[in-house]
Amino acid sequence: MNIGVPREILPGERRVAIVPEVAGRLVKAGSTVAVETGAGESAGFSDDDYRAAGATVAPTAAAALAEADVVLKVRRPTFNSALGRHEVDFIRPGALLIALLDPRGDQDGLRTIAKRGVTAVSMELVPRITRAQMMDALSSQSTVAGYKAALLAANTVGRFFPLLMTAAGTIRPAKVLVIGAGVAGLQAIATAHRLGAVVEAFDTRPVVREQVQSLGAKFVELPVSADEAQDAGGYAKELAEEHIAREKQLIHEHAAAADAVITTALVPGRRAPVLITADTVRAMRAGSAIIDLAAEQGGNCELSQPGKTVVEHGVTIVAPLNLPSQLAYDASQMYARNVAALLKHFSPNGTVELDFNDEITKAVVVTAQGEMRLAPPPGVSGPPNAAKRATEAKV
Ligand code: NAI
Repeated sequence: MNIGVPREILPGERRVAIVPEVAGRLVKAGSTVAVETGAGESAGFSDDDYRAAGATVAPTAAAALAEADVVLKVRRPTFNSALGRHEVDFIRPGALLIALLDPRGDQDGLRTIAKRGVTAVSMELVPRITRAQMMDALSSQSTVAGYKAALLAANTVGRFFPLLMTAAGTIRPAKVLVIGAGVAGLQAIATAHRLGAVVEAFDTRPVVREQVQSLGAKFVELPVSADEAQDAGGYAKELAEEHIAREKQLIHEHAAAADAVITTALVPGRRAPVLITADTVRAMRAGSAIIDLAAEQGGNCELSQPGKTVVEHGVTIVAPLNLPSQLAYDASQMYARNVAALLKHFSPNGTVELDFNDEITKAVVVTAQGEMRLAPPPGVSGPPNAAKRATEAKV
């Protein structure tokens, strides 16, 4: 198997799809790995690190991908204005592309890939099932984002997180409220707790109560039944209007007492629920902060501006778009291991053989044989449905 890895060109993207450790493992298993020069630089990996691992370093993206049967990327292929060419043009027809392809947001991009005859695999669609855990890039990158969100919160509020007893008196610990206790939320809780903050967390799924408590945080309870809050796959469901109203009120009360609020509430395939209203922001203390991780899905705070930091009523609202990129070294290691695990799944005998009867393959392959396999978003979509839709779609 010849594997090619280009440098990421989307603005602000610092991650790389393959790190030297993973390249070394693939080479030992009999593959060749060609990496474009500088591909790992912004993540902290030099060309020499790749060479030492047994990879070759190519002078251009075109050269790195010229012989590639498999192309590994972090972000979807895009137009390279410096070269006046689309990145897809460098991928050989018939090759397999694995990347975060934004399959629901960028349907045109998928069409371009399909037209080129490239078989594309979307890392976002790896189902959250036990045997796919090693391949789950959304989870690994959300872990990074949750950690970084807690650091951002600590950096933004003008006070200590831990309790301090000093000669200048006792400093009480900061209070942090985390909304949404999924992968990102749990990591934000753990990190804020480790920094010494008093953490409260809130999620509509009562099943996460124990996980929240085991991380040292207090679980804020909204009385809804498990059936109302989550579907059969364990994912959050959109709540009924009356529950949302009660939830907003509950959040209002707890946010007003918090120094920092980290929001990560997400219902797969939906716009993020707006849980922090302008009124709630007004009720918060001056100098407090909101870190809105759901910015990419529109934001959990009414006043968030995706990609920006704004100050409203004395509250700093941070709505970052690509936090994993800010921790590019570890985010790349985790992503590369996810990608390598998926590639191994596709090629147990050293060459790629896609078995469309397999649940994971069915869910993640979004273009094959010149056709798109992902139905246009029907309004409700998300990881639990993706496998079903992919089965129904034409292969
Ligand atoms: P997840 O699906 O594991 O967790 C989402 C949690 O939100 C679930 O526990 C769910 O029950 C909860 N939730 C849903 N509706 C809710 C409501 N109305 N009130 C309270 N909780 C509710 O998702 P994950 O992987 O933790 O991602 C969370 C968010 O962080 C997503 O919006 C994701 O896109 C975002 N994210 C942002 C990044 C960035 O750089 N800005 C990077 C990675 C993730």
